[in-house]
Amino acid sequence: MSIGAPRARLMSPGRRAGASWWRRAWIAPLAALVVAALVYIWAYYITFDPRTATVDLPADQPLKYPVVLAHIVFGTVAMTTVVLQVWPWFRRRHPQAHRWAGWLYVVGGVAPSAALAAVLLPTLAAPTWFALASRVTLEVLWVATTALGVVAGRRRNYIAHRWFMLSSFALTMDAVSSRLVKVVLTPLYPDVIGATTFLLIVGWGGWLLNLVGVQLWLLRGAWRLRRADRRSAAATAPGPAPTPAARTTAGSA
Ligand code: HEM
Repeated sequence: MSIGAPRARLMSPGRRAGASWWRRAWIAPLAALVVAALVYIWAYYITFDPRTATVDLPADQPLKYPVVLAHIVFGTVAMTTVVLQVWPWFRRRHPQAHRWAGWLYVVGGVAPSAALAAVLLPTLAAPTWFALASRVTLEVLWVATTALGVVAGRRRNYIAHRWFMLSSFALTMDAVSSRLVKVVLTPLYPDVIGATTFLLIVGWGGWLLNLVGVQLWLLRGAWRLRRADRRSAAATAPGPAPTPAARTTAGSA
């Protein structure tokens, strides 16, 4: 089945020649943001010294440090490959590499990192059940959206594949946005907001903002697609049948 011109155009927004430069060049700031977050994260772990870790490491949990470290290594694979995956130019020009990077994202990034995060969840020093619920919900949604994206891709349902994978991307980006939210809120802590509120906003805000933002963007795209389809159908539809009066006039000409 072939797809119409408006549909093809809207499914690959990066192709629009008339789009302003910032709408085509968003990949550069995204990549810079991911690199900055990874430098920030690795600054505490590159020494492989548990004393510089940013997590609580109770003496009776000697395995926690290597598990956190492995979770970060696989999380780094997920973050770097997902930037390639959401880049429209890369998908169009290198479909085979997109496929390989996709498998690396799933098998070498999300799956092992999420499995290790599940091991870490019971060790989490969460101040409230609400903060813990944020991590558990993130974990479930991360695995579910990625798995559904893979299934949709295997079934060649590319609209669903794109929807689920962009949602998975939004969740992976929690590693960036939750740290950004933390930096923004730090001047308000502890005078304006207390520890519990601070941790709740960082825990939920980081990924919910991304996920809602991506859903709104996808819904806007779907709405524009429907409108473009309606317009192209109206343009190609035959005109109204001539009235009897018009037929009479035409016959006498
Ligand atoms: C999106 C799903 C993710 C979930 C559910 C998750 C879950 C967790 C959990 C439960 C911990 C232990 C925290 C503690 O014991 O205090 C943790 C720590 C950590 N995770 Fe993840 N993680 C996710 C994705 C990522 C990604 C993509 C990265 C990127 C590298 C990452 C980097 C880290 C780092 C650096 C830590 C150490 C503590 C910190 O600085 O926050 N995580 N994660």
